[in-house]
Amino acid sequence: MSALFSPLRLAGQELPNRIVISPMCQYSAEEGRATDWHMMHLGMLATSGAGLVMLEATAVEPEGRISAADLGLYDDGTEAALARVVAACHRYGSARLGIQIAHAGRKAGVAAPWQGGGPLGPEQPWRRVGPSALSFAEGWPVPEALSDGEMRHLAQAFADTAARAARIGLDVAEIHAAHGYLLHQFLSPIANRRTDDHGGPLENRMRFPLRVTEAVRAAWPKDRPLGVRLTGSDWLEGGITVEEAAIFGEALRQRGVDFLDVTSGGIARASIPVGPGYQVPFAAALRQRVEIPVMAVGLIVAPEQAERIVADGQADLVALGRTALDDPRWAWHAARTLGATVAYAPQYERAAPQVWPGHTYRFGTDAMN
Ligand SMILES: Cc1cc2nc3c(=O)[nH]c(=O)nc-3n(C[C@H](O)[C@H](O)[C@H](O)COP(=O)(O)O)c2cc1C
Repeated sequence: MSALFSPLRLAGQELPNRIVISPMCQYSAEEGRATDWHMMHLGMLATSGAGLVMLEATAVEPEGRISAADLGLYDDGTEAALARVVAACHRYGSARLGIQIAHAGRKAGVAAPWQGGGPLGPEQPWRRVGPSALSFAEGWPVPEALSDGEMRHLAQAFADTAARAARIGLDVAEIHAAHGYLLHQFLSPIANRRTDDHGGPLENRMRFPLRVTEAVRAAWPKDRPLGVRLTGSDWLEGGITVEEAAIFGEALRQRGVDFLDVTSGGIARASIPVGPGYQVPFAAALRQRVEIPVMAVGLIVAPEQAERIVADGQADLVALGRTALDDPRWAWHAARTLGATVAYAPQYERAAPQVWPGHTYRFGTDAMN
């Protein structure tokens, strides 16, 4: 029995296995709207055998997009465009679909990676906001510090996006509170130098992210899982540690969050010892301290590695990013390696090994029509 291929009940949903496609920006939206690229990309992943496909970071307002080609879900046009993709993925794919609800804060308004990835210049005006008027790095724009009224407005924007996501049938929602984006900026002393009740001790730095979580939880159906992607470490002196992450994780659990997705880095430039499963220890530490399911991510590549993470109780779910881009049928191949079964779309069933037990498929010579 493979642990990786065992189902997981989360809130009112059953995920058929523990394989998640990690959220990945595609820089292919038009004015926040999903395009045919999303149909191809998400359609491919929805039929990949993964239990859950997370959509890329999806902004709660236009200025919260990382790039001008990011997905948004903040008006009827963005909702209709995403609804078309979600309906097709549900119709033909077996994966549950999750939205990652996001605001980029001081890291908003950058070019696509293949156009350099740096912040857009003054010829493309973009209002960046954050907890404090501190830039991400030298040469990056200085954001405006948010007022209390603006924070209230933004918490409502997160909730409105969650309500739209529920309406178009997304199964899972995740709040993005990592990778140096707005909610992480509030949590981390590296970006948050406020002197009001949103700055200083962790209890204050968590206040806005928790307010957002409460607003989203109230807007998102109780029987659909809500998660938070959070940082296990800033990898910087004076930054968030795994101990602080666990306190934040417990506060999230108390507010009805159903799972934690544990990543790291991104708040400022840092040296990160990247290697196979390098963030898994953070997931394992949070799993010990917070009694809700935990997702691990980061250079999880081999089926045996993923199996061990789940079987050893380091995490309940494993998310694949680049591995899934490289091998979208990773779940099929992992099932073969681990002796498990996985869903195939009927159109693809003839590629499934169980269709010809003990039989080696020979292209061109077996009967095909
Ligand atoms: C093309 C690309 C886009 C990404 N976009 C997002 C995103 O929208 N939201 C997010 O939380 N992480 C994003 N990430 C990070 C991945 O979700 C993942 O955490 C990271 O790539 C580590 O996992 P991997 O080693 O399996 O790729 C992105 C990564 C890639 C490669």
